[in-house]
Amino acid sequence: MTSPPKTSPGTPTSKPSADASRVRIFDTTLRDGEQSPGCSMNLDEKLRVAKVLEEMGVDIIEAGFPIASNGDFEAVREVARTVKNSTVCGLARAGRKDIDRAWEALKEAARPRIHTFLSTSPLHMKYKLQMEPAEVHQAIIDAVTHARNLCDDVEWSPEDGSRTEHDFLCRCVESAIKAGARTINIPDTVGYAVPSEFGALIAMLRNRVPNIDQAVISVHCHNDLGLAVANSLAAIAAGARQVECTINGIGERAGNAALEEIVMALRTRHDLLPYSTAIQTDQIMKASRLVSAITGFAVQPNKAIVGANAFAHESGIHQDGMLKNAQTYEIMTPESVGLHRSTLVMGKHSGRHAFKEKLKELGFQLGENAAEDAFRRFKDLADRKKDVYDEDIVALVDDTVGSVNDRVKFVSLQVVAGSKGPQLADLELEIDGEIRDVQSRGAGPVDATFNAIKKLVPHTAKLQLYQVHAVTAGTDAQAEVTVRLDEDGKTVNGLGTDADTLVASARAYINALNRLFTKRLRTAPEGPAAEARGGGAKSDAAASKTVAKGAFSA
Ligand code: KIV
Ligand code: ZN
Repeated sequence: MTSPPKTSPGTPTSKPSADASRVRIFDTTLRDGEQSPGCSMNLDEKLRVAKVLEEMGVDIIEAGFPIASNGDFEAVREVARTVKNSTVCGLARAGRKDIDRAWEALKEAARPRIHTFLSTSPLHMKYKLQMEPAEVHQAIIDAVTHARNLCDDVEWSPEDGSRTEHDFLCRCVESAIKAGARTINIPDTVGYAVPSEFGALIAMLRNRVPNIDQAVISVHCHNDLGLAVANSLAAIAAGARQVECTINGIGERAGNAALEEIVMALRTRHDLLPYSTAIQTDQIMKASRLVSAITGFAVQPNKAIVGANAFAHESGIHQDGMLKNAQTYEIMTPESVGLHRSTLVMGKHSGRHAFKEKLKELGFQLGENAAEDAFRRFKDLADRKKDVYDEDIVALVDDTVGSVNDRVKFVSLQVVAGSKGPQLADLELEIDGEIRDVQSRGAGPVDATFNAIKKLVPHTAKLQLYQVHAVTAGTDAQAEVTVRLDEDGKTVNGLGTDADTLVASARAYINALNRLFTKRLRTAPEGPAAEARGGGAKSDAAASKTVAKGAFSA
């Protein structure tokens, strides 16, 4: 196995790189990732993720879609002001208003990039845009020219590129480059392509577009057929030198290509894929956990690279092989993605200092309040659980990180459960600083607990998903619960962790509610941006008028 050479992040991305094998990593967790159901992030959360992406060596961070909402605009502007080493990018449709708004948000960045797009497939042009191909072609030239007058670094994407007629695609790409685009991004918007076909599409563009060498070819693959990473790798082999991806593969519908999978495939199979990135791979777990904690989107246990089972060996034969030589069943080391072998950390006698050292070792940088909160919960856990492992600390901190500014906080829960009934929950919450309590019945202990929450915090959101998994082995393991709520098409995920499954369930539900309140309060722009985001922005605006601080009902 050969390690790829390390290149510094943030190499100017507007010109083709001197190193022909260098692949730029364009992360769109904060834009396309944030568009996936329940994944919205507030400004502070976006900043935290952006800092981790920059530290990890991401070349380009797509921070949002500035015209989509005031919240998106502010977040892109703050990321642009904060991030120094990575290029910061904002998305804009082909209109001047979109592009101006994107530039307004980006102009203070050390390395700004405007990413503008327009659909080019027959289906999108006819039904979505209701424009003739000639009009679309002219709109592309106008958009890129306008963007380029504002910003040196312009990327252009033909939305639904993989289903676009080749002659028309070539003509649009050539014109976009002539108008000043320095990156041409080919999206497989609906995740329809297969690797051989998608690789051939990139090769076709390289062969047929006369000025293609004046731009970096990028790809943006969705995962509807589970082929996003395979398509991205095929495109790289065919000459693409930028890939658009997200942490944990989050994104519209089935998601985007997962950053960690592309980067580790290039690193692990450097023999067949001789391309390098600037990603510090040992930061991958940290980024994955942060995104999962912030979005409330749990990573499936068998997810490649970052899933809880990705480096776990269960069967006797495998364990025996691992003990003799780890390479028998591990094609990459856990350390290479920032995972440390599970160790017994501390018990109830461990002090604050040791705990904070442990947090640092696990890659967490918490503020004083969050660290203190986490320490209190650790002591509580250590009182109840004999062995506290790294995974327990990670789950507990993820839970704490996701709930620092919450309006509704969990205080206590007593539940009567069992076969005799009635199942009863006695719940205490802190709501906007005031302690309140209630008792409620239900068809089971979880139902009683959720009914109690509904009594204290009335809302109309519907429960869409309730999922429990154990953080470690053993009956005293902590439970990690995911709750998904939907209110008028606004979906949010909540995560909660505790040694008591019912407490974890209450925490997850409360976490989801807090996210819902934040989402309701986000404002939206005038104009057509809601269409670009599938209508979400418009309904947020309507909701923000009906919900004032202190009022919980929708
Ligand atoms: O999937 C897509 O086509 C996109 C574009 C805006 C690049 O997200
Ligand atoms: Zn996309």
